[in-house]
Amino acid sequence: MSYQIISGSKMAKNIIENLKKEVKDFQSSSSIVLGLAVVIIGDNPASRVYVNHKKKACEEVGLTSFEYSLPKDVSEKELLKLIQDLNQDKRVHGILVQLPLPDHLDPEKILLEIDPSKDVDGFHPFNLGQMLRGYPHFLPCTPYGIVEMLKRSNIQTESQHVVVIGRSNIVGKPLGAMLLQKGANANATVTICHSRTKDMEKITQQADILVAAIGKPLFVKADMVKKGAVVIDVGINALQDAQAPKGYRLVGDVAFEEVAPRCSAITPVPGGVGPMTIAMLLTNTLKAGQYLMNQKGETS
Ligand code: GUN
Repeated sequence: MSYQIISGSKMAKNIIENLKKEVKDFQSSSSIVLGLAVVIIGDNPASRVYVNHKKKACEEVGLTSFEYSLPKDVSEKELLKLIQDLNQDKRVHGILVQLPLPDHLDPEKILLEIDPSKDVDGFHPFNLGQMLRGYPHFLPCTPYGIVEMLKRSNIQTESQHVVVIGRSNIVGKPLGAMLLQKGANANATVTICHSRTKDMEKITQQADILVAAIGKPLFVKADMVKKGAVVIDVGINALQDAQAPKGYRLVGDVAFEEVAPRCSAITPVPGGVGPMTIAMLLTNTLKAGQYLMNQKGETS
């Protein structure tokens, strides 16, 4: 079966090209210089790579980024104080705390401290609640990117059975909620599978659209996928490989080589969902500025 490879890199490039102009127009008409604060704690190498990509993308579209790099033993009190300062900082329109956090820091407490109007990751309970109710303010970037990818690939979700493997707060739960909303680019029937799901392959075999967001390298095999399904791979895992120049290679949660021939469309890793997550973060940061402008307009 011939299959389409959905290039997240190409789509993200396109979004970024458009954002460049939008950001320029917004900044010149509003006199607001848009700023994104990126907080990274500790020395997780994957987090470092993601944060570098995010900062570089900011530069590309003309947003100012401020990096706050804190030691891995930073106290909760210090981190909360930084977030409070960033909440007040007029130069900062978006705040992102890169996850995962070191074990001694409770992400719930940290994320709760971020002003929801600067929560460009869409992780604050206010924003998650608004999304769940169908009145989104900021959408979480990875699910937002996936919905956008499906839309831009003309893949219908209406009445389709979407099966998501993974129930994280970052991807699985919000993506499920977004796709079952009433409305365009949603209206799907959603099933969420996870580590305690019984006979998972019987469920995944029913998926018209299968999303793998479980964080296990090459977890989805060909016999778990219905012929003609669309497969979205959210995983990015480093797999040891003595043949690879770096001693490892990046693979997704899907065994691409065997799964792709069964699909009508599939996202690659790298170059699939990852670049879209960054494009949506930049989109949300521009939105943060636009919301602020509208608020100012209402109060003046
Ligand atoms: N870690 C993995 N994905 C994300 C994300 O989208 N945002 C943040 N802040 N951390 C992450």
